[in-house]
Amino acid sequence: NRATKVAMHSFEYQHGRLHCEGADLVRIADQIGTPAYVYSTGTIVDHYRRLSEAFIDIPHLICYAVKANSNIGILALLGAEGSGFDIVSAGELHRVLKAGGRADRCTFAGVGKTDEEIAYAIEAGILAFNVESESELLQLSEIATRLGKSAPISLRVNPDVDADTHKYISTGKSENKFGIAYDRILAVYEQASKLPGITIRGVQMHIGSQITRTGPFAEAVEKMAPLVEQLKARYQIEYFSVGGGIGIVYDPALESGSPGWWQQEKEANRLTIASYAEALLPTLRRLGLKVIFEPGRYMVGNSGVLITRVLRLKQGGSKQFAIVDAGMNDLIRPALYESYHEIVPLEQAKAGALPQKYDIVGPVCESGDFFAQDRELPPLKPGDLIALMSAGAYGFTMASNYNSRPTPAEVLVHDGETTVIRARQTLDDLTRGETIPDWVMTSNRS
Ligand code: LLP
Repeated sequence: NRATKVAMHSFEYQHGRLHCEGADLVRIADQIGTPAYVYSTGTIVDHYRRLSEAFIDIPHLICYAVKANSNIGILALLGAEGSGFDIVSAGELHRVLKAGGRADRCTFAGVGKTDEEIAYAIEAGILAFNVESESELLQLSEIATRLGKSAPISLRVNPDVDADTHKYISTGKSENKFGIAYDRILAVYEQASKLPGITIRGVQMHIGSQITRTGPFAEAVEKMAPLVEQLKARYQIEYFSVGGGIGIVYDPALESGSPGWWQQEKEANRLTIASYAEALLPTLRRLGLKVIFEPGRYMVGNSGVLITRVLRLKQGGSKQFAIVDAGMNDLIRPALYESYHEIVPLEQAKAGALPQKYDIVGPVCESGDFFAQDRELPPLKPGDLIALMSAGAYGFTMASNYNSRPTPAEVLVHDGETTVIRARQTLDDLTRGETIPDWVMTSNRS
């Protein structure tokens, strides 16, 4: 039954309409228009606390991966819970600071940090840079020395394990561009210890995203353990960051064998926070170091939906299309990774209504602009509202203005109260910062 399935996201039907923490999504759609992202405060806070409590026995810090959802309303919410942040750009650091987040709880990842970004982060006083190459180490040393400061660092180890996830989001194999090869690590730490302007703080790994089994995490942590022990003895490192990547459930119907995203349906016993903690705790406890987690998707993925209105139905040669007012520019995951998002109507179908098969597509001029193909849904008609579930992570943050479509509004719900945490862009927003060169105007006049 739908109600219990959706309830896992803290979105549930009340009186036949989908609600988020008691707020009626149909009303939100009518008030602020569609498409719009709607997030549940309770779900985000609950996920943060569940992860933190699972590791209550060991000193730890959760550094939420800002790239998953960087709205300052959400960053402020997590910051208030005590969360740190994993950032990948000056822009993300700016957001964290604007949201009142603590710089000294920020880790800075990424293979292509610029001089300006490094200087900004050093001045802000971040917890550490996750260093992805030897040349970055030299760059950090030089900039910190010039500023008369020291750059705190961890090296990102590439543990060369198979995360068993989509190839675009797997990062811990030796063929990926991320991290420093395992067998180079000790030499690079030795080099780091001798460089001016470098303070060794910890060690980091990250093997990929949307990992739905404990196996790859356990394998990577065990592989790292002897290295971590040596680093602790030699350089007195303070922490071991195990990265992010905790997978979430995108398709609650998986148990019944319906198709889902990226093989996760193959796994009957999917990863939970309890099984993740159970798999990692023995090794982490033994290491006796503070542990950093960098979850993004887990924290916000199931907390958000994208609501959109059916514009029209169209019978194609062999398919029935429901064209909606959200497009791949608003949520690119299905187009980019063929990812699965559950789709539910905001108003429950009448009893006995026969489901039909639809391709749910957007208005963007690309064949890849679809959210679902051959999806069975209750009968739809123009004007109907639907929700694309589990869109809280890598939804808005990957949105663009392609086809000159304004980016959607974002709404945060708390206990029935709604706040627009990002206004829908206006048409004027679209051309802000653009200029017509004088010479174009002149040539037009002649
Ligand atoms: N730490 C590092 C170094 C990362 O590269 C990432 C994600 C994370 C943490 C957070 O991973 P998470 O816990 O969210 O899995 N756009 C893709 C996901 C890209 C993930 C990139 N790195 C998607 O929509 O599935």
